[in-house]
Amino acid sequence: MLNFVFKNQTEILFGKGQMSEITSRLPEQAKVLLLFGGGSIKKNGVYDQAMSALAGVDVIEFGGVEPNPTYETLMQAVTTAKEHDVNFILAVGGGSVIDGAKFVAAAYHFDGEPWDILVKGASFSDPLPIGAVLTLPATGSESNGNSVVTKKATSQKRAFSSPTVQPQFAVLDPEYTYSLPPRQVSNGVVDAFVHVIEQYLTYPVNAPLQDRFAEGILQTLITEGPKALSEPENYDVRANVMWSATMALNGLIGQGVPQDWSTHMIGHELTALYNLDHAQTLAIVLPALMYAQKEQKAEKIQQLGKRVFDINEADTAVQIDKTIKAVQDFFEAMLVKTRLTDYDLDEKAISAVVANLEKNGMTALGEHGDIDLEKAAQILGLAL
Ligand code: NZQ
Ligand code: ZN
Repeated sequence: MLNFVFKNQTEILFGKGQMSEITSRLPEQAKVLLLFGGGSIKKNGVYDQAMSALAGVDVIEFGGVEPNPTYETLMQAVTTAKEHDVNFILAVGGGSVIDGAKFVAAAYHFDGEPWDILVKGASFSDPLPIGAVLTLPATGSESNGNSVVTKKATSQKRAFSSPTVQPQFAVLDPEYTYSLPPRQVSNGVVDAFVHVIEQYLTYPVNAPLQDRFAEGILQTLITEGPKALSEPENYDVRANVMWSATMALNGLIGQGVPQDWSTHMIGHELTALYNLDHAQTLAIVLPALMYAQKEQKAEKIQQLGKRVFDINEADTAVQIDKTIKAVQDFFEAMLVKTRLTDYDLDEKAISAVVANLEKNGMTALGEHGDIDLEKAAQILGLAL
């Protein structure tokens, strides 16, 4: 096992009715920026519940954070936050809103061009504290320090990460997810699944506990994910999906093990260029990447097949191929398509993605740093 230092500061408030807990977690004399997305929270009652929990608290609203939140919109939120001198951000929404809150928090006291936080790793100090109310289980953003922001002007989707912008608390009420459109339920399950894979499907380092954690989350997503589509108001199913998605990327399962993240990095370019949903890009890239990297990942692919999909072939090559097919079939069963052509993309998209990867310095991806531009093109070619 590799060395690690692990701390997760987010207090999870899980279950029905937990919104009532938030006020006691706010700073004294709180002046709250309520950050939200395109309006789903106004239709499903979550906004009303937040506002009644915040009765008596000074609240400034900023709505309109887009899926794949943009730098352009978030800078307007920074201006609003500064105008009103807020001292706390409450992000109510999915990963995009929570990621957006982290960028606003970091940019708030930043002296200079905040985009540098994303492209140059510029350091920032004294970020605003954040609380989250999660409405879409997928990213784990409610309990990690990652933020992914897109600059529309240059089609760049970039990430930064800092424990200082990790939410102090997160409300996870499964009932808030009942209103999700099926496409977002599917996206969430696929995203969480791939988060686990990025931290699991590398090479063995004798970390059996991390492996079992990861396999447990994958199995839960495989069992509960389809039920979340067929029984949308089954509380227990929603609760199990929600907790799986948080556990998939709250840092725990990735401690002490190598990580990959190349599926995400290649996928981010597909979103930046063609506006595909984040999970759609992952469903395209991962099976092809597993195929292209099957030698480097041989041991873990076989283990995945055996322990998660119950595939037990004596022939290694067959075991590996069947496991890759099982992953692809799971995405398709979750109604997320797995080929570039399913989204009307062809060879031109491959060269555009590769050019963007080069521009962003993503030229040595994967747990071995061996996914260069040529390999990335090969992977995307397999996904046509
Ligand atoms: O904007 P509103 O109106 O709220 O609608 C949203 C949005 O259209 C809707 N939605 C959310 N909760 C709902 C709901 N509709 C009905 N009922 C509800 N309860 O769903 C749509 C998608 O929301 P979004 O927040 O964009 O989805 P998601 O949570 O999948 O977040 C995706 C973003 O997170 C980034 C992605 O790159 C992408 O930008 N990621 C963040 C990560 C992290 N912080 O660690 C890791 C991930 O790998 C990922 O990169
Ligand atoms: Zn993801």
